[in-house]
Amino acid sequence: MSENKRKILVTHALPYANGSLHLGHMVEHVQGDIWVRFQRLCGHDVHLVCAEDAHGTPIMIKAKNEGVTPEQLIEAVAVEHRQDFADFDISFDNYYTTHSDENRYFAEQIFNRLNDKGYIDRRTIMQAYDAREKMFLPDRFIKGQCPNCKTEDQYGDSCENCGATYSPTDLINPRSVLSGEPPIEKESEHYFFKLAEFGEFLQNWISDSKRVQKQASNKLNEWFEAGLQDWDISRDAPYFGFKIPGTEDKFFYVWLDAPIGYMASFKNYCDKNDLDFNEYWHPDSSTELYHIIGKDILYFHALFWPAMLHGSGYRTPTAIFAHGFLTVNGEKMSKSRGTFIRARTYLDHFDADYIRYYYAAKLNSQIEDIDLNLDDFVQRVNADLVGKLVNIASRCAGFIKKRFNNRLAGTLEDQQLFEQIVDAKAQITDYYENRHYSRLIRKIMSLADLANQYIDEKQPWVLAKDLEKENELHLICTQGINLFRIIMMYLTPVLPGLAQRSEQFLNTQIVANDSWKNIDQPLLNHELATYVHLLKRIDSAQVEKMLQAEMAYQPETKKENSVSEQPSTISTDDFAKIDLRVALIIEANHVEGADKLLQLTLDLGDEKRNVFSGIKSAYRPEDLVGKYAVVVANLAPRKMRFGVSEGMVLSAGPGGSDLWLISPDSGAKPGMQVS
Ligand code: 2FM
Ligand code: ZN
Repeated sequence: MSENKRKILVTHALPYANGSLHLGHMVEHVQGDIWVRFQRLCGHDVHLVCAEDAHGTPIMIKAKNEGVTPEQLIEAVAVEHRQDFADFDISFDNYYTTHSDENRYFAEQIFNRLNDKGYIDRRTIMQAYDAREKMFLPDRFIKGQCPNCKTEDQYGDSCENCGATYSPTDLINPRSVLSGEPPIEKESEHYFFKLAEFGEFLQNWISDSKRVQKQASNKLNEWFEAGLQDWDISRDAPYFGFKIPGTEDKFFYVWLDAPIGYMASFKNYCDKNDLDFNEYWHPDSSTELYHIIGKDILYFHALFWPAMLHGSGYRTPTAIFAHGFLTVNGEKMSKSRGTFIRARTYLDHFDADYIRYYYAAKLNSQIEDIDLNLDDFVQRVNADLVGKLVNIASRCAGFIKKRFNNRLAGTLEDQQLFEQIVDAKAQITDYYENRHYSRLIRKIMSLADLANQYIDEKQPWVLAKDLEKENELHLICTQGINLFRIIMMYLTPVLPGLAQRSEQFLNTQIVANDSWKNIDQPLLNHELATYVHLLKRIDSAQVEKMLQAEMAYQPETKKENSVSEQPSTISTDDFAKIDLRVALIIEANHVEGADKLLQLTLDLGDEKRNVFSGIKSAYRPEDLVGKYAVVVANLAPRKMRFGVSEGMVLSAGPGGSDLWLISPDSGAKPGMQVS
């Protein structure tokens, strides 16, 4: 292998350091990890790096809301992310952060080089500004009515209802999500990267058909036709990021230093492992560089990033592998439908291998969305992994142990079948290399079918009853175990957990780097370890439990990734401070512009109260009138965009349509104290 040894650097998109990972994220990380593990098994030098994407306004605001510094927030999130990745068996060689010295160094260096070459422009532009919060507002921090379809409550950059894209100034009745105030326009000097000057270079770069997938190049061509725009790479203070050299209040936009984070993570890894960073990044490098990304961030990776690299004297990526999104049961993951599943919730209920296998069975090299159908997931895991794959080993292992002291025979019973399965290696290698994972899984499962057919035909359980057939039994079970070994080796990149356990049982290396070179060497006269069950069946009840657990988690109401201590109990005195009263709902109305709220007029016996309550997805206003509710009567009035809310009604349930108003019997009278 050594003469063909490739040097490969692979990156996964950097997750934002302000939220939990979910099963959508894992599509990418599983896809990339499988590819990298495959390259390692082939004996190549491959390095997989990633990092926390730690900068930007949302992180700054979230930290502020949680009463911590951004550094504390990103550190707490990083701990959670690292654990999730480790438990999903994502084999990062380095997992770093964009808020690092290395990243600052490269961001400044690349900016300075681009600036020196005249690729940076400075212009004064008008920007949306929140005068109350004293800060410029990113598009996503402005909401209003879509100028196209008139849907309320849409972000400043695009409409979730009709898909229109626009700038925040086009919104009807825009307001800052921070203060609720209409933003004002304010002048600010910004730095721009002159992307248009790289038009010809980029078109050439992309014309190499291996750089990006067909769908991606079609999309890129649309962008070329529309004309490349200069890219605004600066943000005004306050901002959590790196200050632009030579300025006091200008920062690099998070998307400027995020991809540079790939370099920074790799540099940090090189320094720890005595590797030559420049060998991988100089413009004539013969090493390979691949970025695995979601389809939504193609623009950044296939236009800005190669242009920045080229303009600053670095090599450009060998290729960009983009993938589609994950749907669950055919629809976009949704908290209200109960199909939003955090990585941790999944891991609390299932082994990583199951979903790694399921994703692999669905993925291909195209930019297509994949669906996680939860019934199909259970069915497929049980049928393929337990029913076919592990079955090969379990059908033979018992006889080898009981009758042959765990020792395999000295020859194979069916050399031809063994070779047939070994010969599939070329095809399997090609499928892995080109990321045709669904074809790969079909192919490997067809080999598992062959192995099972062999055992079905030879019926070792029948031979076992006839002492004269002892030798035959030994050869057949040895054959079965050998077929299992090869098939398991083929699946090692997909199922690292199962591979590890199989390695212990087979008592031979199948997981180590370069182990594929030994695929054609049968295990003969070899002692196995005692077989212990390798994989459990799963059932729909476990899926149901997982979904329930996710609903109970309610990230909307609990603090996600909280870094501050939450008191878990309150004193009786504290509880006595809460004035709970029976209220009669005498009026209920929709609130214009509010997705979740209903306006309620409550009768508290001696007074009426106006309350906004987030129960719109569970109740129609007309069904509420005449109902009794329990209200927190001594809550400080809260000024909302729609008016003042003078209390809070109590309800139970995870949210969305699963929400039930706590309603006393009609014997209760408005105003009665709830004790
Ligand atoms: O879209 C995202 O989640 C970004 N955090 C990805 C960054 S990838 C790279 F450019 F850093
Ligand atoms: Zn719209």
